Amino acid sequence: IISVMVNLTSYNTLRVAAYAREFREIREIGEIREIETNEPYMFLGEGANVLFKNDFPGTVIKINLLGKKVISQDDDEVIIEVAAGENWHNLVMWTVENNWSGLENMALIPGTVGAAVVGNIACYGQNQEDVFLNAQVTNLKSQKGEQYNISDCQFKYRESIFKTKPELLVTSVQYKLSKKPLANTTYHSRFESLNITNPTPLNIANAVIELRQKKLPSIDKVGTAGSFFKNPIVSREKYSEISAQVKELQWYPTDKLQYPKDAPLPDLVKIPAARLLDELGWKSKVIGRVSTYERQALAIINLGGATGQEIFDYAEKMREDIKKNFEIELEYEVRII
Ligand code: EPU
Repeated sequence: IISVMVNLTSYNTLRVAAYAREFREIREIGEIREIETNEPYMFLGEGANVLFKNDFPGTVIKINLLGKKVISQDDDEVIIEVAAGENWHNLVMWTVENNWSGLENMALIPGTVGAAVVGNIACYGQNQEDVFLNAQVTNLKSQKGEQYNISDCQFKYRESIFKTKPELLVTSVQYKLSKKPLANTTYHSRFESLNITNPTPLNIANAVIELRQKKLPSIDKVGTAGSFFKNPIVSREKYSEISAQVKELQWYPTDKLQYPKDAPLPDLVKIPAARLLDELGWKSKVIGRVSTYERQALAIINLGGATGQEIFDYAEKMREDIKKNFEIELEYEVRII
């Protein structure tokens, strides 16, 4: 069923009232055949990482493919398969309730499973690519289903081949999870400070939920798309230069962030954009109907009724400010439509 001129407010977590010329939902693999590829189209999960700067002059295709199951298991590991339209957080809770380890640090990340693969999500030192086995992908041009293994996906920091090739639709993904807790709680100083005494997957997920509820806006209450920009990757030299201006600036290693994975590691570090923006006074700064969250300068929020253009203008001002003060080009993490 195709609807025309659909208001997308409830289909994007920034709550922008853009319109799609056409809108359809995919509930079964067979419906993919009906997608008209000569007209502009875009796939949408729960709209947790998009900014509709403008109306969309084509078809917005909401992926509602559902289902999750165990494919195989032994004493140590379990392989699960999950359809792209499943809610990511529900998936994480299902795995931790079964005492399977590998996704627990990524609890409460908004969006769908398909979007998690496309955007290669990660959180508190755990990455979806670490447990990724393969994805089932339909190529809209050939109408063929293909299996993509990890190297085919070209995962890097918040990137994959699916971001660059719009004809590829991820329909399901397989993850290999551990039955022995990985207990990965070392990433973050504040994560450690939660002091998880018994690090079962469920306890870690609950600690992450608590931490995220403290630090990040809830998509049920606030119009937001989480981190608006990627954390910039800079040389160590540049890092030293900036940390002379910005006190206690953290840095993170970049070994997992690049593709190909076996390329020699350049002397680069990732630094928190939130810290730089905060330094320049962007936390809670209001311009019209747009601001950032009171505890996270990287999370832009819609105060109510802001248009996509207003949010984009706000974000561009942030970029200009970072450029002017630190000579760094912030890259959008959110997809701008
Ligand atoms: N900070 C500030 N001011 C702020 C917020 C943070 O100075 O307003 C400082 C913190 O004190 C800390 C540093 O900035 O030293 C990093 O902040 P935080 O721990 O909140 O993490 P982040 O780097 O801002 C990244 C991801 C998040 C992910 C968290 C936890 C990106 C772009 N963002 O945020 O992912 O949840 O780490 O792993 O990589 C998302 O992608 O939408 C997202 C929320």
